Amino acid sequence: MQVAQSAALSLRATLVNRRVVGPDAFVLELEVPDMPPRLAPGVFAMLSPAAGGSQQIARPFSIYDRPTAQRFTFLIQQLGLGTRELVELALGAEILCTMPLGNGFEVATASEDVVILAGGVGSAPFLQYVRERIAAGAGANTHMILGARSRERLYDVASFENLSFDLRVATDDGSRGFHGHVIAALAAALDAGELNSAARFLACGPSGLLHGFASFAREHKLRAWLSLETYMGCGFGVCNGCPVATQADGPLGAWPYARTCIDGPVFSLDAIQF
Ligand SMILES: Cc1cc2nc3c(=O)[nH]c(=O)nc-3n(C[C@H](O)[C@H](O)[C@H](O)COP(=O)(O)OP(=O)(O)OC[C@H]3O[C@@H](n4cnc5c(N)ncnc54)[C@H](O)[C@@H]3O)c2cc1C
Ligand code: FES
Repeated sequence: MQVAQSAALSLRATLVNRRVVGPDAFVLELEVPDMPPRLAPGVFAMLSPAAGGSQQIARPFSIYDRPTAQRFTFLIQQLGLGTRELVELALGAEILCTMPLGNGFEVATASEDVVILAGGVGSAPFLQYVRERIAAGAGANTHMILGARSRERLYDVASFENLSFDLRVATDDGSRGFHGHVIAALAAALDAGELNSAARFLACGPSGLLHGFASFAREHKLRAWLSLETYMGCGFGVCNGCPVATQADGPLGAWPYARTCIDGPVFSLDAIQF
C-alpha cells in the first residue's frame, strides 16, 4: 500500500541538536513546525543554511527519525561543501527546509518478509520503516543487512540495535559482523536458507552497492526496490536535474526518463534501467 503523501512545505527549521555518529557523520535534529502527523518512510527534505552559507543549492536528505511531532532528525555524511555547511552550523541556526518530498516506500503487509540492504548513510530511510513494521507486529519477518567499510562507519547502528528485529552487520574489513560486502552477506544468508528469496527486498546506499544489488536481484529474480541518491537541483520536479532511465515495458510507461525527486526516490527495479 502506498501512503498518500502530503504537499511539500518550505519552512524555516531550527537546528536544536547535533550528534557525532562516526568519523564523518552526524545526526542533526531540527525543529520543524507544521508537519502532518504521519509521513511515509523514505521521503526526503531539501536542506540548506538560511543564512551565512555559500548560497549554493539545497541538498536532499532522507528523513531519519521523528523524536517528537515537530522534531525531525537527519543522518548526514559530510562529503563536500553543502554537507559541511550544514553540519558546521551552530545550534539555534535556521535551516531552509522543504519537505516532505518524494514517494517513500510502500508499506508491506505484516505477513510479508522484508529484507533491507543498506550501506553507510543508506540506513537513513529505514529507521522509521523498521519502527512501523515492528508496530504492525512484523518485527520477526523484517531483516536488515547494514554494511560499511569498517565498524566506525556503521553510523548510529545503536538506533537499529535498540529495535526488535533481525539486524545483521557487514564490514568490508571484517572489523564487525560479516567480513565482506553487503551483497556477499546477502548471498551467504540466502544460500544458508536464513533469508527468504521470495521476500520484498529494499536497498539504499552508495551507487556501488545499488548497482551490485541490482545485478544480483535481476540474476536471482528477486522482487526489489531501490531508493536512489541521484544528484538533485530543485527536489520538486522543475529542473530536470535528476533523470533516471526507465524500462520501456516497465510500470512507469513509455517516457524514457523519470525524475528521481518526484517519481522516486524509491523505484521498483523493473521500472528503471540501473
Ligand atoms: C533522495 C536522497 C536522499 C538522500 N539522503 C541522504 C541522507 O539521508 N544522508 C546523507 O548523508 N546523504 C543523503 N543523500 C546524498 C546527499 O544529498 C549528498 O551527499 C549531498 O547532496 C552532497 O552534497 P555536498 O555539497 O556535501 O557534496 P558535493 O560538493 O556536491 O560533492 C562532494 C563529493 O561527493 C560526491 N557526491 C555528492 N552527492 C553525491 C551523491 N548523491 N551520490 C554519490 N556521490 C555524491 C561528489 O561527486 C563529490 O565527489 C541523499 C540524496 C538523495 C537524492
Ligand atoms: S531535482 Fe529538479 S527535477 Fe528532480
